[in-house]
Amino acid sequence: MQTGIGSIAYLAASVLFILSLRGLSHPSTARRGNLYGVAGMAIAIVTTLWLNGGAALPVVAVLMAIGIAGGAILARRVEMTQMPQLVAALHSFVGLAAVLVAIASYLSPAAGAEAEGVAQSVHNVEIYLGVFIGAVTFTGSIAAFLKLQGVIGGKPLLLPMRHTLNLVGVFACVALGYVFLTAPDADVGISSLLTMTAIAALIGVHLVMAIGGADMPVVVSMLNSYSGWAAAATGFMLNNDLLIVTGALVGSSGAILSYIMCRAMNRKFLAVILGGFGTATSTASKAIEGEIAPVTVDEVGSLLRDASEVVIVPGYGMAVAQAQATISEITKKLRSKGVNVRFGIHPVAGRLPGHMNVLLAEAKVPYDIVLEMDEINDDFSNTDVVLVIGANDIVNPGALEDPGSPIAGMPVLEVWKARTVVVSKRSMAAGYAGVDNPLFYKENTRMLFGDAKGSVDALLGHLGA
Ligand code: TAP
Repeated sequence: MQTGIGSIAYLAASVLFILSLRGLSHPSTARRGNLYGVAGMAIAIVTTLWLNGGAALPVVAVLMAIGIAGGAILARRVEMTQMPQLVAALHSFVGLAAVLVAIASYLSPAAGAEAEGVAQSVHNVEIYLGVFIGAVTFTGSIAAFLKLQGVIGGKPLLLPMRHTLNLVGVFACVALGYVFLTAPDADVGISSLLTMTAIAALIGVHLVMAIGGADMPVVVSMLNSYSGWAAAATGFMLNNDLLIVTGALVGSSGAILSYIMCRAMNRKFLAVILGGFGTATSTASKAIEGEIAPVTVDEVGSLLRDASEVVIVPGYGMAVAQAQATISEITKKLRSKGVNVRFGIHPVAGRLPGHMNVLLAEAKVPYDIVLEMDEINDDFSNTDVVLVIGANDIVNPGALEDPGSPIAGMPVLEVWKARTVVVSKRSMAAGYAGVDNPLFYKENTRMLFGDAKGSVDALLGHLGA
């Protein structure tokens, strides 16, 4: 009876998780998606505690209280721009949990769960896989966190024969797996398991350290996927159907997101996770020709007033400057004057998937004028003014025109095809990938130097006059 009700509750939680993922796929439904996720998780936790007869309830309650308090403080403090590193840090917890639960399950199987023969071997394979994926996820996520937080540099660490090193590591783990599965006693078993954990931990660090800064978004979503598979392996180990379903959902959605991002950057997934991107030196790039043409706020105001088609391209700098609310006001003002204003969003603009969409939704920019790169790229040639706000890599023509560029092959917003491009940024500094941008030197480009918030505030004042 209890198991039956538990299964139904788990099923309900699984459905809520699926609805949550669906909701999170669009800003207009994201809030509802979040609520579904919270409800599903609440059902999952209560059901699991109930099915276990409230075992170790005081310990669980204290740990949950610490977790809830920590989570609430973090959620309040973390800036939108720090989300990727927060996500990376959270993935490391999932990896660590998978490792600890698997090792605990080996050392002290749950009462009545001691299996024999084939069932025992299958259980041990689940433990081994859970520890391997968990350890790679744990240390890989910590390395990603440190890179994104700027504690260690974003440059790829390319050790000599790095692919061979990874392969040797994987083969050593396979060999240790054989030792583990055929171990005559628990001492041999645990020592092979712990040795493999150390090797997998090194592989995790090495894999992520070899990846350049520009590929970090893919790495974070790939680690998201790994953390899901680690959770699924733990679910098999603990015989917990909900954990298997949840892990598979996280694992596959992370993999799909990684694939979408790779496509957005025209990169092969394998090439990304094996590192190497961002390693081309900028000396191999074409020299940039042309002059910089600065522009004043008044001139930009006149350009916008005379335009009938305007596209705004936001990037990381808009998020840093928190300029979205003023941009939303400018949009309203221009639209009320009959100007057709739309937004062009690159799939990896900013520092996390959907970063710009969230900020624009927060600033109440209507969803129907916010277009994806593929939807707007053909329209730039019919656009009077493109306003680039704190974006750099995503509008770099070098990606298409310069095979020597470190971002060669990445699809970009082809803003230079418009009649006039206005770029709002503080200096001539490079963007995330550390690459110079020939757009700034093109004849039809005007540079509006200064903090984006200050520039757009002044522009709004000008348009209001
Ligand atoms: P970036 O290429 O990083 O360029 C941002 C520009 O904003 C900088 O050149 C900077 O120039 C300017 N800026 C910074 N603060 C500003 C401020 N207060 N006011 C005005 N301008 C400011 O950004 P992007 O074009 O959005 O491209 C995103 C990059 O990040 C890509 O390389 C992408 O691969 C990578 N990335 C993306 C993600 C995801 S999933 N979206 C995650 C991690 C990394 P100044 O210093 O001269 O002002």
